[in-house]
Amino acid sequence: MMKIAVSGKGGVGKTSITGILAQTLVQKGFKVLAIDADPNPNLALTLGIPITQARKIVPISQNMDLIEEKTGARPNDFRGLYRLSFTVNDIYDKFSIRSPSGVNLLVMGTVGSAGSGCMCPANALIRALLRHLLTKKDHAVVVDMEAGTEHLGRGTSEFIDVMIVVTEPSVKALETTKKIFDLSTQLGIPQVLIVGNKVTSFSDEAIIKQYCKRNDLSLLELIPYDENIKKADALGKPLMNFSQKSKGILAIQKMCAELLNIANS
Ligand SMILES: Nc1ncnc2c1ncn2[C@@H]1O[C@H](COP(=O)(O)OP(=O)(O)OP(=O)(O)O)[C@@H](O)[C@H]1O
Ligand SMILES: [Mg+2]
Repeated sequence: MMKIAVSGKGGVGKTSITGILAQTLVQKGFKVLAIDADPNPNLALTLGIPITQARKIVPISQNMDLIEEKTGARPNDFRGLYRLSFTVNDIYDKFSIRSPSGVNLLVMGTVGSAGSGCMCPANALIRALLRHLLTKKDHAVVVDMEAGTEHLGRGTSEFIDVMIVVTEPSVKALETTKKIFDLSTQLGIPQVLIVGNKVTSFSDEAIIKQYCKRNDLSLLELIPYDENIKKADALGKPLMNFSQKSKGILAIQKMCAELLNIANS
């Protein structure tokens, strides 16, 4: 059982890496639940869910009827009163979508203030869902997080074993990376690991390696800039099918193997 979250500055490659990681875990025999926790969700396309189907998905955090059914209150009309005990297991069965790649996708919408003071019914539902994530041995959960740091609250650490922080070779992206690393560590997340993405040269490599070394950040993997990842995304195609042997995909598969080694050690 592994619960992995993928975070980082906007546009660094979180969704691409989450998607390929989730599909690699399926290929390795895991039952994988991918959670899209971005307020602008788009992991569905990366996983090969057709655009017409993806457009119809209502994120859990915006599903007013479901929130009312469970908590007894509608998000904008709850006067501070709602139920805190309700079952959430059925939500996975009813609302997760099986992608062609075999990954089950649950579009959560933002898990934003899940750990911060907001006690609205939508948050109560999402907190309950995350707390009850399946805990069987051959299951893995991969969460595509919202960009930046604002959403990282106490709630995050309750459900995550490994935080992957994706960065590009730029000081701006690396500074955000350090902030997320520090926050995640303070929150008590057991493993916080850096992944350098879109690496085009030895000098890019050196920028990331030196920054990590100087700031005591654990670097898990470097992923090369890969024209095929860019192209698949531009065409709205599922990344994995596009080119299994593509250098970016191979590097993410290697990263996945390292993660499994860490989980087993
Ligand atoms: N290794 C790579 N090589 C080339 N292009 C990449 C690579 N990784 C990601 N990209 C491209 O970078 C862009 C942003 O990627 P992606 O959507 O995965 O980032 P993100 O961090 O999820 O962004 P957001 O913060 O908007 O959610 C996309 O066009 C994607 O194709
Ligand atoms: Mg994204």
